[in-house]
Amino acid sequence: MKDKFYITTPIYYPNDIPHIGHAYTTVVADVLSRWNKLLGKEVFFLTGTDEHGKKIAETAERAGKSPKDFLDDLVPKFKDAWKKLDIDYDRFIRTTDKDHELNVQKMLQKSFDNGDIYLGEYEGLYCVGCEQYYTEKDLIEGCCPTHKKPVEKIKEKTYFFKLTKYKEKLLKFYEKNPEFISPKKRKMEVINRVEELDRDLSISRTSFDWGIQFPFDKKHITYVWFDALFNYHSAVKDKKGFWPADVNLIGKDILWFHAVYWPAFLMSVDEEIPKKVFAHGYWTFDSEKISKSVGKVINIDKLISITGNKDSIRYFLCRAVPFGDDGDFSEQAVIDRHNGELSNKLGNLVSRVAGLVEKNGIEKCDVDFHFSNVFEEVKELMETFQIDKA
Ligand code: ME8
Ligand code: MG
Repeated sequence: MKDKFYITTPIYYPNDIPHIGHAYTTVVADVLSRWNKLLGKEVFFLTGTDEHGKKIAETAERAGKSPKDFLDDLVPKFKDAWKKLDIDYDRFIRTTDKDHELNVQKMLQKSFDNGDIYLGEYEGLYCVGCEQYYTEKDLIEGCCPTHKKPVEKIKEKTYFFKLTKYKEKLLKFYEKNPEFISPKKRKMEVINRVEELDRDLSISRTSFDWGIQFPFDKKHITYVWFDALFNYHSAVKDKKGFWPADVNLIGKDILWFHAVYWPAFLMSVDEEIPKKVFAHGYWTFDSEKISKSVGKVINIDKLISITGNKDSIRYFLCRAVPFGDDGDFSEQAVIDRHNGELSNKLGNLVSRVAGLVEKNGIEKCDVDFHFSNVFEEVKELMETFQIDKA
């Protein structure tokens, strides 16, 4: 058994302060990281921020700041939030970190040398909020289905990554690694779309400059995903035994990028592929996805203030919805879990045991907890990502 465990969260866009959605992935990753430490493994837990791209550049401009100044104000808010939630990460990577930028350039060069990157022209409908191109049929009344705002028509010279070259290889990879796309219920949707893949992927932009320069053509900068996904690799490339990652934990919004682009990029540069990409569900609020761009946001201070206890909210996030499913958020639900399960059940158990021990002395307490069974059960649940049940 490998005695090292490498887990990652997405690197979040620091265009606003973190909210419950970001807290969710990060808390669960922290719990999995701590669990693997308890098992005696050497753990590397990575989180961070995704700092390049048009979305950040435009948000900074609206705030009257340079991208770098804007980010240097916001990134500490993520670090603060994770501190308040007791997140014990090993590195907080920023895509503006020099070692990451150099690694991305190295990977671009390698992929180019392997014949997988070529210059072409792209015309498409682009949503800045998603940092993603759409086709006509994806749109709802001419607008992005997530942000419900008009998309932009963009035409420019761009480098393409030969995604179509990897279509068959990807399908074989999914077949050989049935655990890679998790949970199972999301797998077929991805595979079906890969089977229909008939276009290469635009990976560079020239119309703005907030990004990593292509090493073989300085006019071009990386379009978000080639830059962003390699963060997982940049962080451990000099740490022996951690690559490939054991799990890239993400939300279902970015499963496509992680399940398709990511393994294809890695195949192109001859690197191993993470063992698992696990996509959890959304927190909703009145049944709408909670997100910065949609405007329904619950920030970290607010979350902690519901009970005044960070452990209660950590517990709530892990416990309240079957891991992988969506869940509708309410403050009352947090209070109910806190009172019902932590205070009444767990609190009473602890106080009764403490009372017994105090009264009789530890030697005389003949309490058989069957801990060995509990351990095996919890281990099985953790390994199968049934976090809420564990
Ligand atoms: O997508 N419910 O960053 P992002 C559950 N930078 N999880 C949620 C959520 C919600 N309502 N809202 C956000 C990006 N999340 C890219 C990622 S990775 C190489 C690049 C969580 O700031 C969830 O983990 O939009 C989701 O995948 C992530 O935040 C998206 O964060
Ligand atoms: Mg998003």
